[in-house]
Amino acid sequence: MMDTATAATITAAHISEFKKIAGDDFVFADEETLDHYGRDQTEDLHYLPEVVIKPRTAEEISAILRICHEHHIPVTPRGAGTGLSGGALPHLGGVVLSTERMNSILQIDERNLQVTTEPGVITEILQNTVKEKGLFYPPDPASRGSCFIGGNISENSGGPKAVKYGVVKDYVLNLEMVLPTGEIIWTGANVLKNSTGYNLTQLVVGSEGTLGIVTKIVLRLIPHPKFDLLMLVPFCSLEQAGEAVSAIFRGGFTPSAMELVEINALRIVSRMVESSAVPVTDDTQAHLIIEVDGNDMDVLMKEMEAIGELLTQYDIGDIYFADDAQQKAELWKLRRKVAEAVKLDGYTIEEDTVVPRAELPALIRGVKEVGARHNFAVVCYGHAGDGNLHIRIKKEGVPNSHGHPAMTAALRELFELVHQLGGTISGEHGIGLIQKPYMDIVFRETQIRLMRDIKKCFDPHHILNAGKIFS
Ligand code: LAC
Ligand code: ZN
Repeated sequence: MMDTATAATITAAHISEFKKIAGDDFVFADEETLDHYGRDQTEDLHYLPEVVIKPRTAEEISAILRICHEHHIPVTPRGAGTGLSGGALPHLGGVVLSTERMNSILQIDERNLQVTTEPGVITEILQNTVKEKGLFYPPDPASRGSCFIGGNISENSGGPKAVKYGVVKDYVLNLEMVLPTGEIIWTGANVLKNSTGYNLTQLVVGSEGTLGIVTKIVLRLIPHPKFDLLMLVPFCSLEQAGEAVSAIFRGGFTPSAMELVEINALRIVSRMVESSAVPVTDDTQAHLIIEVDGNDMDVLMKEMEAIGELLTQYDIGDIYFADDAQQKAELWKLRRKVAEAVKLDGYTIEEDTVVPRAELPALIRGVKEVGARHNFAVVCYGHAGDGNLHIRIKKEGVPNSHGHPAMTAALRELFELVHQLGGTISGEHGIGLIQKPYMDIVFRETQIRLMRDIKKCFDPHHILNAGKIFS
């Protein structure tokens, strides 16, 4: 049996120790703060922590973790709380450790095209800051205006640009982290190639705050492309939109974004933001949003034309080209707000399925069949170019997917289909609390045992985000 932190009660003596470390003003036990830090963006789940601490340095985190390690106190690390799998929910009580005060971009190394940042920097601020130097950090989750880069590391986030530029893991070179025992380490080196021992850096990326608390991040950057073009293609069949995605790549193109939005999602989001930027016609079932980018406008124009030409083999409507920055921003705003809009419309948690790209039509077909069998409304959207399809289901009177038997039965069927198609159950949101009941679909006990052993090696008292990913 693993030595496990339980819902240990935090005493006044612990709180006074924490205050000595982080300062009186940054240790909170009032009702309002506990309530706020008991939620993230995962459905309406809510678990009260016993104390919230907002440290400023790795040394402070180290001192806090030494106490929690010694007294077996559960600790939940938290970024901006925008996660969709419950990673930041303090389901065992204990300490919530927020990185929000660690919000400095420490160094932009223009010689080596790297940036060193603290974890509490908002992703979009990081992107805009390096862009001023002509540099590009591509991973751009829908929540980039509010999420933290540290949370993105924890979840190995993606977003629309991932299709051409890759996800967070493709940019992380080195991490400073505090281990649950309090030791502070660097995981690697600030280099583009590294075959030096086990790759601790990449083990930590996507480990959902279970192995340590990341306190400094070194990212590689690339030159920012000068131009981009954006078009919107209406499809009369959702499945055909799915087919077209892999055909575009087979045709020799690599768009910088290739997003799919089913018509229902577009209707709901257009209503929410009161936009008529995209006309919703009765014969349209879905849109593909296709972006290309680069440094030569003529090449990009030709590429867009050629993609448009390739798509004439499908049943499509009139292609819409976003002419200027404002039209592009309007389209992207609609796309980024889909998740929020469909959630408000009563759809439950955003599933994060991912299949090999050419299996997308089979996934779409299967999703609709599962929905029909279980009498759920289903809506699909997401990063089609990556085979990463977000799916939400809805049924009158069922507010949550988590733990509801009718929902979990349907989701289990959906994930089994995803697995049969060669895919897996999360592409960019992580497993956290709410997807762990489905891990047995994609992993046997042997893989889970290996993960448990790694966890034990980093965190012998099992204090850090315990009970996330696996029990
Ligand atoms: C999206 C995020 C929420 O793609 O994953 O909309
Ligand atoms: Zn997404």
